[in-house]
Amino acid sequence: MSTKAIIDRQFYADVVGGLSSPNKTIPSKYLYDEAGSALFERICELDEYYITRSELSLLETCAPHIADDMADKVQIIEFGSGSDLKIRTLLRAFTGNVTYVPIDICAEAVQQSADALSKDFPHVHIIPVTNDFTQPFTLPPSSDDAEQLGFFPGSTIGNLNEKEGQRFLHQAAENLDDDASFLLGMDLQKDDTHRLEKAYDDSEGVTAQFSLNLLTRINRELAADFDVSRFRHRARWNEKRGAVEIYLVSLQAQKVRVGDHVFDFAEGEGIHTETSRKYTLEQIEELTTSAGWIVKKRWIDDKTLFSVNYLERVT
Ligand code: AVJ
Repeated sequence: MSTKAIIDRQFYADVVGGLSSPNKTIPSKYLYDEAGSALFERICELDEYYITRSELSLLETCAPHIADDMADKVQIIEFGSGSDLKIRTLLRAFTGNVTYVPIDICAEAVQQSADALSKDFPHVHIIPVTNDFTQPFTLPPSSDDAEQLGFFPGSTIGNLNEKEGQRFLHQAAENLDDDASFLLGMDLQKDDTHRLEKAYDDSEGVTAQFSLNLLTRINRELAADFDVSRFRHRARWNEKRGAVEIYLVSLQAQKVRVGDHVFDFAEGEGIHTETSRKYTLEQIEELTTSAGWIVKKRWIDDKTLFSVNYLERVT
């Protein structure tokens, strides 16, 4: 192996595998190292990233309803809890006995938000978990009488393809108790291409920094020599797929070394880093139903930008 030790073999294998494919690609979960998670928090504060504000206003409305609907003793399990803005809104509505289990791929991010939350919500028992929720794993045991609520906000499910999304929701159904509910934030299909592309390519360039940080991370952790200034961030609405697709585009023909491998880039060639799917109501029905859930209530903002879906298990 080259000059530096490569600690995460899976990360190395995924990057080498992805860059060896004719359509170069890197799984989006690797965007979330400590720097990437902090940049994502900044994205959530951007006006152009409408998703966070639409969802927060919906959560303000639905949180009391859900707190009312559930038992006094609850366990909330959040998948991909990077930013803690949304759980705060939810927790404010729950005044009973609450355990909160944030699960995130980034250990620093999940610990930081657990620390901040425990100061502001002393009545909430917090059990932070570092895990890749796209892989099968076991949840910490829930106490017998606590009712469980899975929480998957931010339309993070839109990063997964149809099959992965279905598998994730199905696995959640299996892992949670039979009487568990689930709160699922999903971004809606819209004709406004400008809004969609601006949300993923903001005028301050925070999203570009977030994307490019992936190359910095690969350099640091995988003994690579990406020249970050020779790539640029590109976000495009793909009408046919109903998704925003994000690429890091090579500004010139170049060779890049990653560990023991060298990759050729043509000028204009992209590395696909993210797909952010948007959903029609029919697709939401289809996806949830196929994974063993039904939508018992749904909240949509008055600009029909975003949806919060309250699910229960099919019995
Ligand atoms: C965290 C996956 C929901 O797709 O909207 C935001 C990630 N990437 N801006 C999204 C993201 C660029 C975000 N998710």
